[in-house]
Amino acid sequence: MSDILKELKSLCPTDLDAGMVFSGKASGRRIRGFETSSSFTPDINPDYLFHDSSRDVVVWFMDSSDPLYVFGPAGSGKTSLITQLAAKLNYPVFDITGHGRLEFPDMVGHLTVEDSTMSFQYGPLALAMKFGGLFLLNEIDLLDPATAAGLNGILDGDPLCIPENGGEVIKPHPLFRFAATANTNGGSDETGLYQGTLRQNLAFMDRFWLCEIGYPTPKAERELLHRKAPSLPKDIRTRMVEFAGEVRRLFMGEAEGSYRDTIEVTFSTRTLIRWADLTIRFQPLARQGIQPVTYALDRALGYRASRETRTVLHELAQRVFPQDTKEQS
Ligand SMILES: Nc1ncnc2c1ncn2[C@@H]1O[C@H](COP(=O)(O)OP(=O)(O)O)[C@@H](O)[C@H]1O
Ligand SMILES: [Mg+2]
Repeated sequence: MSDILKELKSLCPTDLDAGMVFSGKASGRRIRGFETSSSFTPDINPDYLFHDSSRDVVVWFMDSSDPLYVFGPAGSGKTSLITQLAAKLNYPVFDITGHGRLEFPDMVGHLTVEDSTMSFQYGPLALAMKFGGLFLLNEIDLLDPATAAGLNGILDGDPLCIPENGGEVIKPHPLFRFAATANTNGGSDETGLYQGTLRQNLAFMDRFWLCEIGYPTPKAERELLHRKAPSLPKDIRTRMVEFAGEVRRLFMGEAEGSYRDTIEVTFSTRTLIRWADLTIRFQPLARQGIQPVTYALDRALGYRASRETRTVLHELAQRVFPQDTKEQS
């Protein structure tokens, strides 16, 4: 048995106090997790901010009879929310990213030749089912719907049969969890923004507990920037969050005033963090008369946009950051 399998086999499920795990205060509510972390457990990100949208996923972890389907815009924090909660519970996480040609064996495993003998190498789904842990299927709506529907039995709690491994039958471990993330709710993308996503089979979607994760609130994003970019002046961080909110409104066609034209890019939380980070890195440019905030904005988002949208972004930046950013340095 390989070292990895030995390590996974040695993991011990245990009852933890949900309050202690998530907020540091005992609550008396039990939640199942593992005694210790493993090499498959994600590292805890000390800067991670659990905002209101975390609630559903915490409740799901507490009693997860159904698989979970988390959807929301790109970069809103879907994957990281699940992995950070899993990290707190010491869950091993076996993840895979969906794409149009992903097949069942990519999830279950395949035969390999090692030292001139054939052996079966378990894939992420088989490992999670056999030893307990979270199987995380990111971008599930990129899967071919027929491949996705092949998971129906597993989603119902059926055992996994592996004919290639001598007909092994894996009964789901009590701590096997199945979570998926996607940009659409499985009903295909009407906006045209999420190329490659496919309308999923209705019977497949019917098996999931659904959870929508939007962008964090401005308060949560201000706190996030405070944690991720503490060296940026507070006022700049606040304006960055305002700016991101305004770009999202423009994108949705909800903006007030003169900027009524809709634009084709938007601000994810991921982009916001990148913008703050790049602004710090390009701070020395202020001495050469280049504004670090707008310079970083182009690199974080603007270059992905059309020329017209970039002009709109620059005009908006001048309005939201009126004073010359040279003054910050
Ligand atoms: N609440 C949060 N606290 C800290 N970082 C966050 C938070 N939400 C998102 N991020 C950061 O934003 C980036 C994008 O998050 P991710 O979970 O990959 O988004 P998604 O899966 O929705 O595309 C990651 O670098 C993540 O660490
Ligand atoms: Mg993701």
